[in-house]
Amino acid sequence: AYSRLVLGIETSCDDTGAAVLDETGHILGESLHSQTEVHLRSGGIIPPVAQQLHREHIERVVHEALERGNVDPCQLSAVAATVKPGMALSLGIGLEFSRKFVRQHNKPFIPIHHMEAHALTVRMLQPVPFPFLVLLVSGGHSLLAVARGVDDFLVLGHSLDVAPGDALDKVARRLSLVKHPQCSTLSGGQAIELLAKDGDRTSIALTTPMGKINDCCFSFTGLRNQVTMIIKKKEEEEGVEEGALLSCVNDIAAATQHTVATHLAKRTHRAILFCKANNLLTSSNPTLVVSGGVASNQYIRKALTVITEREGVSLLCPPAKFCTDNGVMIAWNGVERMREEKGILPPNVDVCYEPKAP
Ligand code: KG4
Ligand code: ZN
Repeated sequence: AYSRLVLGIETSCDDTGAAVLDETGHILGESLHSQTEVHLRSGGIIPPVAQQLHREHIERVVHEALERGNVDPCQLSAVAATVKPGMALSLGIGLEFSRKFVRQHNKPFIPIHHMEAHALTVRMLQPVPFPFLVLLVSGGHSLLAVARGVDDFLVLGHSLDVAPGDALDKVARRLSLVKHPQCSTLSGGQAIELLAKDGDRTSIALTTPMGKINDCCFSFTGLRNQVTMIIKKKEEEEGVEEGALLSCVNDIAAATQHTVATHLAKRTHRAILFCKANNLLTSSNPTLVVSGGVASNQYIRKALTVITEREGVSLLCPPAKFCTDNGVMIAWNGVERMREEKGILPPNVDVCYEPKAP
């Protein structure tokens, strides 16, 4: 049967991703170029470096996705690309490429909000009817929202400072985990999850953020500072240089991960109670979707499971591959928008688009 095809392009941060999907969510072809290794070596993302890497790889990545799907650009029904939020220089490359591409092939353009795409990816894998609660936790964002429709999100909470993944990355960097034999190729969050497995979280005292504030917002900077002070103290005790701590690295990882998990679980619990009190979720099957890079953390998932089981809420976590940035989630959001004819622009439009933030 004929099914419309959508090409999705993602360049908001440090992944150049492209994918071609049909209307049912079947992935025909995909390609992803990750810059993680480069940024790990430089100790963080340097925006112009990320931009340059996107520039070098975008054409190949897009053509690879098309080729792998055996799809010619003329067969596409639309092109979807992330336009916000993200790093301006990185977004610019995807946007510039997409605009040229849609003009050249005369295809409609669908601007995509990166966080909305994360939020709805789960619907590509299984039917999840609106409305549902979504927790998005990545290196750039932390957000609790009710997804009420393809372009209708009610934000319940967000981070007042940095995102959990960012805090985990900074702690990992402070501990020089990239030099750790097991962690050289892992992101900060992955390194902490791995090392935490052999750690004793109770041996390091950390306070859960925002204990006395009764809302659904997050904060991770204070936690990061707490951990940094503990690391400093331990380094002095050991008489080692900054970032050379040997003992209790696993314990610090375990305590940090546990505190992030507890904070996320407590805020999510509040959000569930709020949704129940205000009848904001499907009463027959209230659902929490957790996505974003940090959502691939099994310890954090477990903490959330405790809450959702207690509250009779179904917890859905897309597989790790679909929790992190890729072209697939952007193409899927394009499919959802195309189906509902929402936010589709003509090929020649000057893209100055402000999608509604979730
Ligand atoms: O969604 P993502 O790939 O990119 C955006 O930030 O949009 O998320 C990347 C973030 C990084 O901060 C990384 O450290 C974190 O997700 N992360 C994890 C894990 N895997 C990735 N954090 C905790 N546990 C993990 N297993
Ligand atoms: Zn993301």
